[in-house]
Amino acid sequence: MKAMVYTRYGSPDVLELKEVEKPAPGDNQVLVKVHASSVNAFDWHVLRGKPAFIRLMGFGIRKPKYQILGADIAGRVEAVGKNVNQFRPGDEIFGDVSGSGIGGFAEYVCAGQNALAAKPESMTFEQAAALPLAAVTALQGLRDKGGIKSGQKALINGASGGVGTFAVQIAKAFEAEVTGVCSTGKMDMVRELGADHVIDYTREDFTKNGQQYDLIYAVNGYNSILAYKRALSDRGIYVLAGGEMAQMYQAMLLRPLFTLGGNKKVVNYVAQPNQKDLEFIAKLFEDGKVKAVIDRRYPLSEVPEAIRHLEEGHARGKTVILIADD
Ligand SMILES: NC(=O)c1ccc[n+]([C@@H]2O[C@H](COP(=O)([O-])OP(=O)(O)OC[C@H]3O[C@@H](n4cnc5c(N)ncnc54)[C@H](OP(=O)(O)O)[C@@H]3O)[C@@H](O)[C@H]2O)c1
Repeated sequence: MKAMVYTRYGSPDVLELKEVEKPAPGDNQVLVKVHASSVNAFDWHVLRGKPAFIRLMGFGIRKPKYQILGADIAGRVEAVGKNVNQFRPGDEIFGDVSGSGIGGFAEYVCAGQNALAAKPESMTFEQAAALPLAAVTALQGLRDKGGIKSGQKALINGASGGVGTFAVQIAKAFEAEVTGVCSTGKMDMVRELGADHVIDYTREDFTKNGQQYDLIYAVNGYNSILAYKRALSDRGIYVLAGGEMAQMYQAMLLRPLFTLGGNKKVVNYVAQPNQKDLEFIAKLFEDGKVKAVIDRRYPLSEVPEAIRHLEEGHARGKTVILIADD
């Protein structure tokens, strides 16, 4: 089978399209013929081995443990191991294989059944490939870490990228009053996704406009931890998913300062792929509450270009890799 392979950490230049052996499913695995995948920040972090702690998270200290990247997959079940009871050959599935060996930038991949869910008929493979990692990240950040509730004021900082476009829609599905923060050219898109208010970060600093929010979901950009605190209402929660590394270090090291003398909370987290949340997202999709915004499409041979595009930091929604004809 064809796969986009790398054997040393580096830029997208180290990726090579190669003919490799088709994997065989273990007893607990599903073999999937991949129709589409999509790129995430996860892919370029694991490609470069940066930040360094990613290497300590089981991806290989000196060289990559897994030679094929690609967390998101959508495709058809080709074969199943003897202990697999949820899927059969021919089933259409989608999922996030970042926790089970990665490998989505290939014609076939093996995955544990908990990493997969049934793809609704109304969802195309490219839509299904855009959803898993980014939408589940947004869901877990807003619902599980942020405890989002109907009527709350929620702000999504970085509302126009992969995670942010889903976060806006998911926050609306939970009936929050949503403010999206993005640059000028993406304001209309964020409004169309359902945001009640949109702030252009090139013209206005939301941490200085006197507004306060019950939940701030930080996906992109940078604000100091004290600026976020200022923009939170009493008992407000700042949930940190991504953005500049300085934000992450501040959230980890300055937590006591953040909580000092008040009820405000800061939470950072790493999303955990799982079947239940994929099914939750599939239901939101079927109910018309969540859609995938697809920025660009690339063939498998152009994964390096797709990753370069994402690394520039200005993608509009998701960037999809098309691998087999639907
Ligand atoms: N915690 C987790 O488990 C987890 C999981 C997935 C991702 N992440 C992290 O989440 C972050 C976002 O991932 P992603 O896939 O959504 O990235 P992405 O698609 O590459 O995000 C691109 C978007 O970021 C926006 N952006 C850039 N600078 C900004 C700024 N200063 N203020 C507001 N928006 C800005 C861009 O809008 P403009 O072009 O308009 O600037 C663009 O639309 C990454 O840091 C990633 O590592 C974390």
